[in-house]
Amino acid sequence: MAGRLADKVALVTGAAQGIGAGIARAMAAEGARVIAADRNVAGCEALADEIGVEALGLDVTSEDDWAAAARHIAASHGSLSILVNNAGVELVKPMTEHSLADWRWLMAVNVDGLFLGCRTMQSLLAASGAASVVNISSIAGLVGYPDQLAYNTSKGAVRHMTKSLAIEWASHALPIRCNSIHPGCIRTPMLEMAVEGWVREGSIPPDDPWAAVASLCPLNAVGSPDDIAMGAVYLASDEARFVTGIELVIDGGWVAR
Ligand SMILES: NC(=O)c1ccc[n+]([C@@H]2O[C@H](COP(=O)([O-])OP(=O)(O)OC[C@H]3O[C@@H](n4cnc5c(N)ncnc54)[C@H](O)[C@@H]3O)[C@@H](O)[C@H]2O)c1
Repeated sequence: MAGRLADKVALVTGAAQGIGAGIARAMAAEGARVIAADRNVAGCEALADEIGVEALGLDVTSEDDWAAAARHIAASHGSLSILVNNAGVELVKPMTEHSLADWRWLMAVNVDGLFLGCRTMQSLLAASGAASVVNISSIAGLVGYPDQLAYNTSKGAVRHMTKSLAIEWASHALPIRCNSIHPGCIRTPMLEMAVEGWVREGSIPPDDPWAAVASLCPLNAVGSPDDIAMGAVYLASDEARFVTGIELVIDGGWVAR
């Protein structure tokens, strides 16, 4: 089915690669006018050229960048129907090795970025008449993992900010739904870096590390950005008009155990 997002304007952050690029592609294929945003300007321009969407330089931690993005959307599109807060960073090391600077950097991207995005775009979202915000959390926002205190905390915050905003917007009768997606292991540059680390420290074997990662998952598979993109398209579409405040887990059964 194509055209599920026809006539909708979608801003996707962290769209230069990985899950964000997958979501941008899938939303464009469903007819959305996609703005692929990233602090990696060359990366989002390359994607934009490839799939015929708009590219926008945006560091989600910058209030000024968000204000400029809102001015651009107001002038070029008038309103915003879909905001996907996907940009995120990860840090894997024991809590005692987290510096305060590490902690603040990670929270700035994963938590402040979402707050700034939602606050800056609220009026443009409301102006669309039927908006959807999709926040990319993680299974790490549902259960704890070792050596990921900052990341776990930030993704738990994304889960809860989602519910808080869903209820705030509904209580003010603003036409903005808000849901989170919780990916499991999805093969992207972020996970590739993590897997290299697991191989280096000997927690998975070097010969076929991806088979080892897959074997940890009940469906014996590693997900792809498309798996997450399909969930994001659903939540962004009018098919999900009665869906707000939920956590959509897409993880091959990882947290069902
Ligand atoms: N890959 C996984 O297995 C997995 C699992 C659960 C959750 N997630 C979440 O999914 C999201 C995307 O992850 P991914 O695996 O595609 O990561 P990735 O590192 O491959 O891509 C992340 C993108 O975000 C951009 N980005 C980082 N900081 C930014 C900033 N300050 N402003 C704007 N853009 C910024 C990067 O330039 C990059 O293009 C993240 O929020 C991540 O926490 C990923």
